[in-house]
Amino acid sequence: MISAQHRQPIVAVDGPAGAGKSTVARKMAERLGLLYLDTGAMYRGLAYKALSHGIDLRDESSLEELLYNTTIDLYREREGQTEVLLDGQNVTSHLRTPEVNASVSVVAGFARVREEMVRRLRRLAEHGGVVMDGRDIGTYVLPGADVKFFLTASLGARARRRQKDLDALGYHVDLDTLAQEIEHRDRLDSTRAIAPLAKAPDAVLIDTTNLEVDRVVDEMIAAYHRAYDR
Ligand code: DC
Repeated sequence: MISAQHRQPIVAVDGPAGAGKSTVARKMAERLGLLYLDTGAMYRGLAYKALSHGIDLRDESSLEELLYNTTIDLYREREGQTEVLLDGQNVTSHLRTPEVNASVSVVAGFARVREEMVRRLRRLAEHGGVVMDGRDIGTYVLPGADVKFFLTASLGARARRRQKDLDALGYHVDLDTLAQEIEHRDRLDSTRAIAPLAKAPDAVLIDTTNLEVDRVVDEMIAAYHRAYDR
């Protein structure tokens, strides 16, 4: 890892589904002139391709091989959306469906899949200048990040946010079903053997349940300046 004095800043944002990571990480990146990288979109891209190709999601070797034969590029968004190119094709609108939501944590649970994803993510951050969000960024992917955040929110708030996102995509799912799905995904993400979802000891913890987006971003930017401008 290059020392903080010799490269652009690196910000890590972790937390469970629906904690608000992507919304605030994107805004923070915009305000600081950094690149926002949504690492969940990479895992979602792989899950989507596996589903489209009828690959058995329990078969680690097939998933690993699929990943080695797949390019996943994250593009700077237009109007706030990260565009995801899978083998050169824009698949952004397919990555947040209930099918992908239900499969992505299974795909992301395999050690060999994670190893390759982590290699790719570290390469993307090699020159710094990024805000990266995910589950294991501060603990495992970029433990030397200059500033780390861990966002949480109550299960009810997270389910309501997910419902709003899905509504916007034309999927109507009831709150109880979403809360159960999120709890299940939290369990898979937090108990997997490799780099589980966890707060890094040096991450700033923010509970976003009752906070407006801009308040969270202000708090994060203040913490960033305290850490990076030191
Ligand atoms: O942030 P998200 O909901 O788009 O992430 C989708 C899934 O990808 C999440 O349930 C777990 C997995 N993931 C991961 O294991 N590690 C990351 N760094 C990012 C996402």
